[in-house]
Amino acid sequence: MRARTPTSPTLPTQISEKLYQRARLVIPDGVNRSTVERHPHPDYAGWGHGAYLHDVDGNRYLDLNNNFTTLIHGHTFEPVIEAVSRALRDGTCFSNPTLSEIHLAELLCERIPAVEQVRFVNTGTEAVMFAIKAARAATGRPAVAKIEGAYHGAYDWAEAGQTGTPETWGPPEEPLSVAYYSGQPGSVTDEVILLRFNDAEGARRRIAAHHQRLACILIDPMPSRAGLLPPDNAFLTAVVETARQYGVLIIADEVLNLRQGYNGASARFGLNPDLITMGKIIGGGFPIGAIGGSKAAMAVFDGRGGPPLLPQAGTFSANPISMVAGFTSMIAMTRQQFEKLDRLGNHLRASLRQLIAKYEAPFSVTGAASLFRLHPKADAPREYRDAYLSGQEAQTMRWLGRHFKQHGIVLPYAAAACLSTAMDESDIKLIIDTFEKALISEEIGA
Ligand SMILES: Cc1ncc(COP(=O)(O)O)c(C=O)c1O
Repeated sequence: MRARTPTSPTLPTQISEKLYQRARLVIPDGVNRSTVERHPHPDYAGWGHGAYLHDVDGNRYLDLNNNFTTLIHGHTFEPVIEAVSRALRDGTCFSNPTLSEIHLAELLCERIPAVEQVRFVNTGTEAVMFAIKAARAATGRPAVAKIEGAYHGAYDWAEAGQTGTPETWGPPEEPLSVAYYSGQPGSVTDEVILLRFNDAEGARRRIAAHHQRLACILIDPMPSRAGLLPPDNAFLTAVVETARQYGVLIIADEVLNLRQGYNGASARFGLNPDLITMGKIIGGGFPIGAIGGSKAAMAVFDGRGGPPLLPQAGTFSANPISMVAGFTSMIAMTRQQFEKLDRLGNHLRASLRQLIAKYEAPFSVTGAASLFRLHPKADAPREYRDAYLSGQEAQTMRWLGRHFKQHGIVLPYAAAACLSTAMDESDIKLIIDTFEKALISEEIGA
């Protein structure tokens, strides 16, 4: 690994600034995803290695974003580079299936208890879209119940209701599925029923009230953008019991949270879904998505006895590069590697909490396994409405992000931060020390 570039209070940014000016001429807002931090400009990535990201201006950061939790081994993981380099020479995409898709499918079916069969697509968004369609095809019903504030990608019915504010989110017992973009059809928002996370009684009541039109309940076991919220057993039990009672399918969206363990997040939290959506880590750094589930739930994709109830295609679905990269990356994610991430994550979260207690600071920490999120709130949130940031709290988090950057760490703002197998205790110490410096800083929240 190359030597660490010392960080200074004013980091060089000239090249990034110039690139952003150039980008804005040809790309709306200069970026290709609204989630890119760009205030006042993005830091353009130069190269990454292991746990560290180097920008084009010569700054080096411990990367706690890892492309929004994708890179479980960090950057440029050597086994993936080697496997993909070999695969590139054999051809990057075919209209035929390849052996590589069977390898990755077998691995997922073996590891994830709720997955007996799997179909591959190119993104988590597509995986969620096809899982919802699969539930509709199986039940003949149109509507989706989902968690207020939870992020599930860009399919219309998965998007609605993720950005409610105190002015728009409606009464707690009847949360409103707020449109996500200007012009989102009312027919979509009408077909999205919101449940508040950890509100067991509310979930039972709302699923029962809408069951005749509900195809599925879309639930991320630890919704990250809603706050990286820990689930209550009582809530998960209420969701499962009511769904089973009314023949509503449960889709566990593990696009992000599959990284919670060797067997995934549903297994960790005792949720038994009909379908699981996956993405991010299963692509080894390349685009991917997957829908998995019981043979019964996945039968809608099966076209052997005539046209399938749900036809599913995609020019790049199951392309061998993503399959090979994903398989290589996942094979390296042994039980020991997941345990290592658990250990690092537990140590980090416990240490951050100790500092918060020591300085009586108005912060809290949520997360599990390799994921954590800092909240500028004394009480850890249990649902989206608790996690929602006021203007002042948002400013505190932006300040914290800048503080971490000055100390050589990328800390995602209002999203889950994550560890990678490329990290060790020295990286955890850097995060802890940097947080302590923030807590004793006179500028905190400025
Ligand atoms: C829970 C969840 N579902 C779906 C998605 C969408 O995945 P993609 O960005 O690959 O489309 C994401 C992405 O962050 C996610 O976190």
